[in-house]
Amino acid sequence: MKTSLTGIKPTNLPHLGNYLGAIRPALALAERYRTFYFIADYHALTSVRDPEALAGHVRDVAATWLAAGLDPSETLLYRQSDVIEVFELSWILSCLLATGQLERGHAYKDALAKGEAPNVGLFNYPVLMAADILLYDTDVVPVGKDQLQHLELTRDVAQRFNHVFGDDFPILVVPEALISEAPLVPGTDGEKMSKSRGNSIPLFAPAKKLRKVVMGIKTDSKGLDEPKDPEGSAVVALLEQLSPERAVVVSEKLRAGGYGWGHAKQELYEAIEQELGPLRERYEELRADEAKLDAILHDGAERARSIARRTIGRVRSAVGIDPLPRDRATLKLRTR
Ligand code: TRP
Repeated sequence: MKTSLTGIKPTNLPHLGNYLGAIRPALALAERYRTFYFIADYHALTSVRDPEALAGHVRDVAATWLAAGLDPSETLLYRQSDVIEVFELSWILSCLLATGQLERGHAYKDALAKGEAPNVGLFNYPVLMAADILLYDTDVVPVGKDQLQHLELTRDVAQRFNHVFGDDFPILVVPEALISEAPLVPGTDGEKMSKSRGNSIPLFAPAKKLRKVVMGIKTDSKGLDEPKDPEGSAVVALLEQLSPERAVVVSEKLRAGGYGWGHAKQELYEAIEQELGPLRERYEELRADEAKLDAILHDGAERARSIARRTIGRVRSAVGIDPLPRDRATLKLRTR
């Protein structure tokens, strides 16, 4: 069975866009792949400066994925920071990458273009990500298009490693990106839903709050009687992803006229409630028991580490960093 692995950066409370665009499709992969899903807390540290927020978001993310149906006995769910081997691999990979390759990184270049002074963590971000992936002999990485450049770099450095240290024998598995076919999830303003745009629909907000946000989705200002175009409407696009049958009915009614945006939004609200209501209850329960959440993450990390150790062993001996032979080590101690 092939391995699918992806990382989730714990920088915000997951929203509906994360659920429809990433969580739901990634969970569907668990049927066909051996799955590794980890919380990239050290990646978050490139921007988060609030320790409580970081620790909180790690658990928010874990509880969200578990509530959405992740089965921790099937899928390895762990915190990136619990598998310290990733740093060892990260260093080794960084010694094979040209600085120019990182200077071309989108995130780094964007930060420079905005006049920011990016930290070294942001600069090295793609190297740690490559290590995240290569440490587990990953075959496929489900990611959004924005991560393609990172995947290219990962493939590149894996190939270079195999070429330089393995005479092209595959010591590291060269992974493929699995670009999600999930359609774009629009936010309340019709643009791609994202935390930074402030257009997101919360995933597990109380029903009342959720309804309020849904009712605030931007639409055209046509009156109740007028026929309306469902194409390009965020309300209909969201409904399509939650309940295609309802979306067909609502689109027909909108086209016919005598049916307002408020009615369509009510349908959307109900569809969200129907899919996410039961998940919200599970989420609340999971999130309240931090000891249990941490135990699940630690168990995942233990299992992940045993795989990581094997890879790092292979890598160390390939590059010539091996443990000292036992006799030499003891000799040294005796002569001191
Ligand atoms: N960079 C990814 C993001 O921002 C998160 C991530 C970190 C990741 N390590 C990864 C994704 C490894 C896939 C594989 O979304």
